[in-house]
Amino acid sequence: MRRLAVLGHPVSHSRSPAMQNAALEELGLGEQWRYEAIDVEPAELPAFVAALDDEGFVGVNLTVPHKEAALELASEASDRAKAIGAANTLSVDGETISAENTDAPGLIAALSSSPSGRRALVLGAGGAARAAVWALADAGADVAIWNRTAERAEALAKDFKAKTIEADGLLPAAEFDLIINTTTVGMGGGGRMAELHLDPAVLSPEQAIVDMAYGDRETELVATAREAGATVVDGLEVLVRQGAESLRVWTRREAPLDAMRRAVRG
Ligand code: ATR
Repeated sequence: MRRLAVLGHPVSHSRSPAMQNAALEELGLGEQWRYEAIDVEPAELPAFVAALDDEGFVGVNLTVPHKEAALELASEASDRAKAIGAANTLSVDGETISAENTDAPGLIAALSSSPSGRRALVLGAGGAARAAVWALADAGADVAIWNRTAERAEALAKDFKAKTIEADGLLPAAEFDLIINTTTVGMGGGGRMAELHLDPAVLSPEQAIVDMAYGDRETELVATAREAGATVVDGLEVLVRQGAESLRVWTRREAPLDAMRRAVRG
């Protein structure tokens, strides 16, 4: 059995096992490959990664809070993972552990059109924002960052040559073609859209809105953006796209997107 897993703390809520096992079944690999969710405390991560090969793992995904540590623990890393400073995917080949970041290409793949030359507003300045800002800037978008704590936005903008904007009341959302929520507002049904300082009245059909947050129900931002006629990409689609990129890294096969979508939305 070739083992795969998502390592996080906590991780029991993860939809990745259902999504990846559905994909493996669809590819006819269900007998030989298996994907699990494993709760690993930060202090245990180095030993866990060191034992991956012995334990039969060929790859793992990393989620909160392990993405930066995973990059450090890998023996080699892609330029993209190094530039972002975080890895959500490790591949194991004997003693060699390679780090990749599929959050960035996953986000770009989730967009229905290229962000090149478009004005993008990233909400948030945490780990998820880092991959998003890098991905959008790399794809040629003109990126601005807003964060509740302005200093974190400034630091992120400095790393990736982006701009920052401050919400003096409401954000000037109409000035952007693309708005991406990377904050935890809306995650698991928590938080209100008002905390993002977006005025629903200015969202329009010309805009694309990406909400990386998801829960059992549609988030308030997704519902509001749909109502406004905007192109909407929800957090489950972003999850599927990063998962598809990781699956490709491990199996070198094209991911069955529809089977993965059915599994995460099940
Ligand atoms: P992740 O690695 O998942 O991005 P994180 O590093 O904890 O997680 O970042 C969470 C992001 O959500 C931050 O940008 C945070 O804003 P602060 O830097 O000001 O803490 C943002 N966030 C969390 N709760 C928020 C809220 N109620 N309103 C606005 N932003 C919020």
